[in-house]
Amino acid sequence: MTSYDDVPASAARGADEATAYPVGLRLSGRRVVVLGAGQVAQRRLPGLVAAGADVLLIAPAATPSVEAMAAAGEVRWERRTYREGDLDGAWYALISTDDPEANAAASAEAESRRVWCVRSDDAEAATAWTPATGRSEGVTVAVLTGRDPRRSAAVRDAIVDGLRDGTLAAPRHRARAAGVALVGGGPGDPDLITVRGRRLLAEADVVIADRLGPRDLLDELPPHVEVIDAAKIPYGRFMAQEAINNALIEHAKAGKAVVRLKGGDPFVFGRGMEEAEALAGAGIPCTVVPGISSSISVPAAAGIPVTHRGVAHEFTVVSGHVAPGDPRSLVDWEALARLQGTLVLLMAVDKIGPISEALVAHGRSPDTPVAVVQEGTTAGQRRVDATLATVARRAADEGVRPPAVIVIGDVVGVGPDRG
Ligand SMILES: C[S@@+](CC[C@H](N)C(=O)[O-])C[C@H]1O[C@@H](n2cnc3c(N)ncnc32)[C@H](O)[C@@H]1O
Repeated sequence: MTSYDDVPASAARGADEATAYPVGLRLSGRRVVVLGAGQVAQRRLPGLVAAGADVLLIAPAATPSVEAMAAAGEVRWERRTYREGDLDGAWYALISTDDPEANAAASAEAESRRVWCVRSDDAEAATAWTPATGRSEGVTVAVLTGRDPRRSAAVRDAIVDGLRDGTLAAPRHRARAAGVALVGGGPGDPDLITVRGRRLLAEADVVIADRLGPRDLLDELPPHVEVIDAAKIPYGRFMAQEAINNALIEHAKAGKAVVRLKGGDPFVFGRGMEEAEALAGAGIPCTVVPGISSSISVPAAAGIPVTHRGVAHEFTVVSGHVAPGDPRSLVDWEALARLQGTLVLLMAVDKIGPISEALVAHGRSPDTPVAVVQEGTTAGQRRVDATLATVARRAADEGVRPPAVIVIGDVVGVGPDRG
């Protein structure tokens, strides 16, 4: 979110930002009067509400977002113009109407009542200025440059981004309890990890990483960080789950900040809960950081929406690691074949033949469109289109390899280049 301090460059000429005294107002339960309900109020109100202020909004009309806040009871809205006396009982006022006379009168009332007052139209007439603010994990950043609101926002963004991704050295901020963070790394593109995940990664002493997910981020880790490869390559070498659990516990017990970096979301075919349970059993604190699952993001990256109005009202994510009919299977393929909506198959490249046959045998049309998206969101991404009748042959002919997401349903055919 970008927000600028309410000190328009033109109006600030002559105002001396060096004399402004920064302070943190504790507004909880205290009356704040906001005059005007346009764009400025829309930007400021969420912060005032989050601070617990008792907001009285006075304006004849409001933007839809401000109106929604009033309807939700977050602010009290009086639909009228400013009247002398409106600032009675206020601790702080934000004046942003489009009527200069009303602004000047309210500003004079604020001065006489000694209420700190921000004006969006006239910085020099204001007794307070709003800094560009941002927050990250308990740190509030507030930047005031007076004459250059864009610079304030840019400085704010640089500091907040640095705190979030750990690139800004802030030792007290970095100090954190030992334990394990189960971090969903997203589908592979390093930009698709969450802000929290990236920050925890930057703070880690030990990272235990899967084969899938944002492997490029491991290159950015400082040399002292121990990286353990927990790759579970299908039908190849793998680090047994128990060994992974033991490694997590052992390093956390040694007082290390441990990140378990997983592909997609930790709880979508990710065995995240098994690890969380093992940590709980060993008395180790565990934080779960959700990730962007490949089941939704890989189709999206290939231009496929898993739902689309008038086309699919549901999507079902299914593991295809065991074939229909396999006694280990927990999937009701007959029921899935009866659904109209989208089926998203993970870990299904090897078994797509028996799976597509089962779906057709149980009634899904052989002409149903199918797309196979391999290595989604990475430089190697590719998409192979087929139908239920042809997908097994097409995948084999095209040499499709895991990891791939297989999307079955009419959503495969929507989009500007298709339909
Ligand atoms: C063990 S599951 C883990 C899923 C992961 N937890 C998630 O939420 O995306 C691994 C499967 O996810 C799918 N997958 C993960 N990343 C992928 C990617 N970048 N492109 C295509 N498929 C991917 C593949 O079907 C792969 O076999």
